[in-house]
Amino acid sequence: MPARFISFEGIDGSGKTTQAALLAAAMRDAGRDVVLTREPGGSPGAESIRRLLVEGKTDRWSPETEILLFTAARRDHLERTIAPALAAGRDVVCDRFADSTRVYQGAVRADLREMVDALHARTIGREPDLTILIDTDVDVARRREGARRSSEDRFERFGPAFQDALRKGFLELAASRPDRFHVIDGSRPEQEVAADVARAALA
Ligand code: TYD
Repeated sequence: MPARFISFEGIDGSGKTTQAALLAAAMRDAGRDVVLTREPGGSPGAESIRRLLVEGKTDRWSPETEILLFTAARRDHLERTIAPALAAGRDVVCDRFADSTRVYQGAVRADLREMVDALHARTIGREPDLTILIDTDVDVARRREGARRSSEDRFERFGPAFQDALRKGFLELAASRPDRFHVIDGSRPEQEVAADVARAALA
């Protein structure tokens, strides 16, 4: 089997970070060589940009500036981490990728999908082979986030209506790309979700 690029998407607190780690472990158990990584971040330069994005006040950046920063981080991550891993025959499991920008900055924070798509085409130009959308009820996700408590809460501070719009945005995007997306109900216990993820990714 050739190297695979698998991304996870979902709202804040959806459980996708846990599920990405569980899938990477299951793939390693199956004998695959896996790089587990995340966005924003995943390379030293992109992790520096991450701190600018996830901390501080909601109005720290306009949606347009956010698109540029997330895309700059993604370009560095692709150049330094993702592309070299795939070229070396390693699988890549990535916690968020370009679909997050399409939904957060392109549809929910603002109606800027054209800008997101144009920049993506010019500077990124690739999609994952498979995207797992962990679709989680907003109240369940909020309780999980509350239990976690972190300084990286800039996007959570946009509030519950924002999270609700994100959830719808991700589902719409998934419906428009059925060949690439696999939607999994993330409101259930971790191990049940993990079993479905493994079935979707290892089939
Ligand atoms: P992440 O580390 O996945 O946070 P969490 O584990 O809480 O889901 O992502 C940090 C935040 O950045 C998250 O609120 C979503 C946001 N984000 C965007 O708005 N656009 C993007 O392109 C990406 C990758 C993330």
